Formats: sequence, C-alpha cells, structure tokens
Amino acid sequence: MIEEYKIKGDMLLNKKTEKGKIKKEYKEVKETYNRSFPAKHYNLVRFLSFWLQDEKARAYAVQKLNLKSGDIVLNPACGPGFDFDYILPKIGVKGKVIAVDYSQHMLALARKRARRRGWKNITFVQADAAKILWKNKFDAAVITLGLSVIPKWKTALRKIVAAVKPKGKIAIIDGKSPNIHLPLFNFLLKIFCHEICHLASADCTRKIIQEARIYLQKTKRKDFLFQGLYVLTGVKK
Ligand SMILES: C[S@@+](CC[C@H](N)C(=O)[O-])C[C@H]1O[C@@H](n2cnc3c(N)ncnc32)[C@H](O)[C@@H]1O
Repeated sequence: MIEEYKIKGDMLLNKKTEKGKIKKEYKEVKETYNRSFPAKHYNLVRFLSFWLQDEKARAYAVQKLNLKSGDIVLNPACGPGFDFDYILPKIGVKGKVIAVDYSQHMLALARKRARRRGWKNITFVQADAAKILWKNKFDAAVITLGLSVIPKWKTALRKIVAAVKPKGKIAIIDGKSPNIHLPLFNFLLKIFCHEICHLASADCTRKIIQEARIYLQKTKRKDFLFQGLYVLTGVKK
C-alpha cells in the first residue's frame, strides 16, 4: 500500500517537474527570440554557427519538396524568414506561405524581409507551433532549426504533419552534435556547438529524426557541416 502511494506520488512529482520544465523552456525561448543577443544579431550568430552551410541545407530541403506554382506551404518557427528565399521562387505569385512563429520580434524581421523583397503572398501568424489546428491544408511544410527549440516539439511535429495534405512533403532541417575524425578538433567543435545551442535555447540531443520517421515515409537524410546540420525529408504517411 505504502509502495503504491509512493509510486503515485513519484508520478505526480514527475508530471509536475515536467510541467515546470516546459514552462521554464517557454520563458527561455521567449526571452531568447525577443530580447537576447541572438535575437538582435541573428544573422551574425547564424553565420558563426553554420558558416553558410544552412543556406545549402535550405536549398537542398526545398528542392526535395518538388514545389510547384500555386502550392501552399507551411513554414513553422519561420524566424526572420530565410526559408522564404527558396520557397517563393518555386511557388510563384499564385502560391502561398503561412509563416508561424512564437516570437513577435522574429515575425517583425520576417515581415520586413518579405516587404523588402516585395513578397505579398506570405501570411504571418504569431502562435505556438504546438497549438496549430490546420488539417490537411498544406502541400508541404518546411521547418528549419525549429524542432530543437520548440518546448513541446513532439506535439508540434504531430500538428505540422496533420496540417499537411495526405502524401504531402515535409522537410526538417536541424542541428546536432558534429562529428569529425580529428579528436582534438572534434572535442573543441563539440564545446563550441554546445555553447551555440545554449545561446539559441536549442536542445540538439532531441531524437527528431527518430520521431519524424514515425509519421513520414520515403525519408531521405543528408548531412552538412561535419554532420552538425541535417536535412530530413519525407512524405506524410
Ligand atoms: C533557431 S530559430 C530558427 C528560425 C528560422 N527557421 C531559421 O531557419 O533561421 C528558432 C525559431 O523558433 C521559434 N519558436 C520557438 N518556439 C516556438 C513555438 N513554440 N512555436 C513557434 N515558433 C517557435 C523562435 O521564435 C525562433 O524564431
């Protein structure tokens, strides 16, 4: 009996701790992407983190989506909108992008980017990607460096997949600890990446690929930057 109470008590405590952890992560993400150094100097941090390899990854990911004129694309955790550069030329003026981000500041940067380039077919939505409610609406979705940051990332992934039409394509770009066969360099690189992840409120230990394969078929993976950056593409099951 006492043992049973203890187990129930432990479960309640675990649930409470998990809730507390998620709440703390939301607070951190909000601070990071609205006020902190990476938010104010996003491009510099991006350049130092990826040495432009993210541009190659974005181009590759969008190419794998086989987008066509008129397609509707979901871009959750859009940040300042770097994915737009690759999506918009493929979908043309008849297509549409729905760009979702939790941070007001990031959306303001994305709006500015769209305005400067004269893109009028992007709708901006300030929302938690784990709470989106679209069903079978989009031809494709691209999420770049978002699932390692979004606190309820598994829920967000499920919602993103649900938002895409059956047999629609999804591309996930994200980061993880890099690997190189030079022990000292590898060690230093891992420390550097750990610091970058901390700065970006990202958890690069999340098993995103494994989770995505639950919902996607015909998956393809390509690595960039000593495996520190990957693209996973697939078709909704
Ligand atoms: C590392 S940035 C990536 C931005 C952009 N996709 C890019 O490739 O540069 C992570 C983005 O995720 C957004 N984000 C974090 N939590 C989110 C959530 N729950 N829902 C939607 N966006 C979120 C942040 O505001 C930030 O813009």
